[in-house]
Parts: sequence; C-alpha cells; structure tokens
Amino acid sequence: MSVTKVNPSRPYLHYAPEKNWMNDPNGLVFFNNEYHLFYQYHPNGTTWGPMHWGHAVSRNLIDWEELPIALYPDQHGMIFSGSAVVDWHNTTGFFDDEPGLVAIFTHHKDTDSKVVQSQSLAYSLDDGRTWIKYKGNPVLSHPTNPDFRDPKVFWHHETDKWIMVLATDQTISIYSSQNLINWVFESEFGTNIGSHEGVWECPDLFALKVEGTKEVKWVMIVSIGDGEGLTYGSRTQYFTGSFNGKEFISEHSEAKWLDYGRDQYAGVTFSDIPQEDSRRMLIGWMSNWRYANQVPTEGWRSQMTLPRELTLKEFEGNTKLVQHFPKELDNWFNHTSEIERTVDSSGLNIEVEQGPVYLSLNTQRPKSGELQIALNYSEQTYTLIQLNFNEKKLSLKRSKSGRVNFSELFSKDQELFFSDIADLQLTVVIDTFSVELLLNEGEYALTSLQFPNDSLKNINLKVSTGEVSIRGMIKQ
Ligand code: FRU
Repeated sequence: MSVTKVNPSRPYLHYAPEKNWMNDPNGLVFFNNEYHLFYQYHPNGTTWGPMHWGHAVSRNLIDWEELPIALYPDQHGMIFSGSAVVDWHNTTGFFDDEPGLVAIFTHHKDTDSKVVQSQSLAYSLDDGRTWIKYKGNPVLSHPTNPDFRDPKVFWHHETDKWIMVLATDQTISIYSSQNLINWVFESEFGTNIGSHEGVWECPDLFALKVEGTKEVKWVMIVSIGDGEGLTYGSRTQYFTGSFNGKEFISEHSEAKWLDYGRDQYAGVTFSDIPQEDSRRMLIGWMSNWRYANQVPTEGWRSQMTLPRELTLKEFEGNTKLVQHFPKELDNWFNHTSEIERTVDSSGLNIEVEQGPVYLSLNTQRPKSGELQIALNYSEQTYTLIQLNFNEKKLSLKRSKSGRVNFSELFSKDQELFFSDIADLQLTVVIDTFSVELLLNEGEYALTSLQFPNDSLKNINLKVSTGEVSIRGMIKQ
C-alpha cells in the first residue's frame, strides 16, 4: 500500500494541492468506492483569492489523486464552503436511473455596496468528475445577513428529510427540505452558549453512539474564525446534545474543544460512509487564519489534517469526542519496531529514516517530573513535546522548529491540561511540516504545523527525575 514519495519539500501523508492556495475541506463524501475531498481553492495564487472548489479522490484516505477543479465562480459569485451528499432516491429530480452526487455550497458575491451569501446546488452525473450548476440557483438566500454560509447537509432518517446546518454570524441556523431545492427554516442554535470570540463558520451535525452504552447523542461542530482579541487565532468548538429534526439542544453551555493545537480548522465529516463501515471520519484544514497566508511553503500553501475517526466517550459524566487515526494509516507504513525500554534522565535516542514517523507510547504516569520527547532536526532545530506530570500538562513547543518568524503567534507554546490519567498513552504522527498528537487514546488532540529546514534526524526521550518504563512502537 505504501507509496514512497521522496520529496522532502512536500508532506508525505497529508493532502496538499500540487500548487497554489487551499483552505477548508468541502463536500467530503464517499461514493462508488471513492472518498472525495473538495476544498476551497485559489488556482491563480498562493494566497487566498477568488474561491473555486478543488478536488481530489482517494481509496484509502491517505493517498490522494488531484483532479481538475470541480466548481468555478459564476454570475452569483465565488464558490465558498459547503458539502456534498449522495441523492440515493433522486429527491432532486437531477438523476435518472443511477443515484448521483449533489454539492450544496455558498455563493459569495462582494459588490461595492454589500456582501451577499446564498446557498446553491450543483450535481454530477459522472462520479464527481464534472458538475452541472442547478439552473434555479441560488436556492436559499437571506435579505440582510452577510454571514450566511457553509451549508452542511445530511438525510435525517427519523423525519425523512434533508437537514442543513448553516453558519449565520454568531449562530447556526437549521433548515429542512424534501428535495434540496426548497428549504424551510427550523431553528437557530448558539445564543448565549459556547464561545463567541469570532465569527461562527463551517458547522457539522451528526449522531454517534456513546461507547459502551446504547445511548446516541448528537454532536454539533462549530469553527470560530480568527477575530480581534482571539488569543490563539481560529479554533473549533463542539457541543453534545440531542436533535429532533428541528432543534439541536446542547446538554452543556461551555464550549468543548476539538483540538488544543493551533492548526485544526474548519473540520467537517464525510457523508455517506456505508452503514456496514459506519465510521464518522473528519478532516480539517491544517492551518490558522492568523498566519495561513504567510506559512513558508513554496508554490503551494496549506495541507489537510490526517483523517480522524470520531467516537463519543464518557469521562466522569462529561461526554467527549474521541479521535483515532484510521486503520488505513497503519497499513501505509512499511516497518514497525517495538519499543520496550526504561527511560531516565540520560535519555533514549530513536534513530529515524527519511519520511513520516508514527510513534505510539504507553507509560505509567509518575507523580512528578516531566517526560520530554524531542524531535531533533539539527543541533539548533527541534520541536519539544513535554508532559509535565505535576501540572498534568502537555506542551508542544515549536519556537526552535525552523522557520517561525512569519507570525508572532506561531512560536508561542501550545498546551493542554489532562485529567487524572493513570497510564499515559500517546500517539504522535510526524510528517514533513506537521505534528499530530493524540493523548489518552484520543481523548485530547493537538495538531501543529512546523517548518524545519532539515529532515528529522532522531527522537530523544528523557525524564527529568527517576525513570519510567515505556512500551510502544514506531512505524516508518
Ligand atoms: C472558513 C471560511 C468559510 C468560507 C471560506 C471562504 O475558513 O471563512 O466560512 O466559506 O472560508 O474561503
């Protein structure tokens, strides 16, 4: 399965367009044995510009093939974010005998006097290779709200209708439809709940079983765009609760965070993954609006995160989203070596080969001290992952990770506080320009870009006091 792509100036495992600018993932859908990834794309430059939908397909969620641009701007404006679904029963009337794909996206028109955002449709009769815009576009507009975008649509079996969640400034509006063409307003979620530090964008809504129970809960994901006064730039919050086909009711009022790193934004999940597989897979944009236009890559800009399989789990009465890398990632690597060692303050060096590294470690948590994992690129260039056991804090420090000067926020530490975990389990995936970290079997996630000038030389583990025994594996 593994494809050896040796190009040290591009990611190995993460989707990035061959050239030019990319932001949000759009239209994630599985159809006829292919995963489709559409995305916000500017084909004429390496910074944000008139938006198109770029397109890539994959059979294993890791190796992607870039295809021609799917949607171009037209008389209604640029093509902003949105989703795609399979219209299995031809509710739209766009198809004859075979079901096909429908994209539901935002048209964005910026004139001197005002911004208009409205929702439109396009459909494909050839597995997403070419698209026909619906002649009645747009299908849903708002007379006054300039923030009216990013439709995510799914079929709600219980009430037999399509549901759309839409970002409407500081709330998420919910609409329903029988045919994707005529939409009825159902409710608005978000007043006096969650974080409102920036504009609400890119919502998603789906049901998941709570692990180990028969209970099903609904999850609403809401990204928050960078805004004045936002400490960390753009971030993603989520809510758990119930949905009855009209209204989403959150069971808590404080935001829960999808990721504690700075580089996981606008993440949404795949539509139409078959029932027998029934995974809920999310892909995010691995960047941050604070510095996305400045990151030092050449000819192309931005990558997607690795896909994450989402489940729900109870932690002392708090239901949280738990993230895992998909099984396809395991199959991608050629070799696995076991690690079973005692680590003390003199350190343990793990040599690595060129290319991405997957590291999974288990250790008992000592009461005090610190475990440090240094990703060494050269004497002066390294990224540090530190687990401070007294403070129950995980930090990722990238201030010495290479090129960092393009943004003030970029070199600041990223951290998360973990609850009382008896045994620590940590998974780290290191690619050319990123580190993705899952702590405690995916209870916490931290996604971070980095731009070293050299390739990874070794990984050094050490503890500040005493010793810990570590078991795990490294895949390359
Ligand atoms: C989120 C976002 C969306 C919008 C798109 C434009 O990153 O701002 O709300 O549709 O990017 O590219």
